[in-house]
Amino acid sequence: MSGLRVRALLALGLMLFAVACGPTETPEQKVAWAEGMTPADARLAEMYGRSCKACHVVLESKAPLTGDKAAWDARFEQGIDTLVVHARDGFKAMPPRGSCMDCTDEDLKALTLFMAGRAP
Ligand code: HEC
Repeated sequence: MSGLRVRALLALGLMLFAVACGPTETPEQKVAWAEGMTPADARLAEMYGRSCKACHVVLESKAPLTGDKAAWDARFEQGIDTLVVHARDGFKAMPPRGSCMDCTDEDLKALTLFMAGRAP
């Protein structure tokens, strides 16, 4: 096998490793990862798709990206209850209920846990 081919295989292996291990370093990869995520529950997936996703997969929105566990870890230091209050009442550029007016507090909690990579 030529050295080039070995290097190509190594590069492919590294790429597969990066995909298998979740969000990786570059912002583009984090966005691609976020875009691919959907809540398992169909009702939550529908709410997420028409609300949270509009910002939480968009780097420019400054919202913590879906599945970017490190970004959410810092926010979880305030506790899930505070996060849900912020999701309900709004927080800086985050609109009240994420503009999902039929999302209950329980839905907001489930959606937050999902985005933070903490869904059961
Ligand atoms: C219009 C854009 C937008 C939409 C839609 C949106 N968010 Fe956000 N969200 C943001 C931004 C921006 C932040 C970061 C605010 C900051 O800390 O500056 C944020 C932060 C959050 C936080 C963290 C708050 C904290 O205290 O750190 C939670 C939780 C959250 N969003 C939940 C949701 C949920 C659940 C939905 C869907 C129902 C949603 N968001 C929809 C823009 C949005």
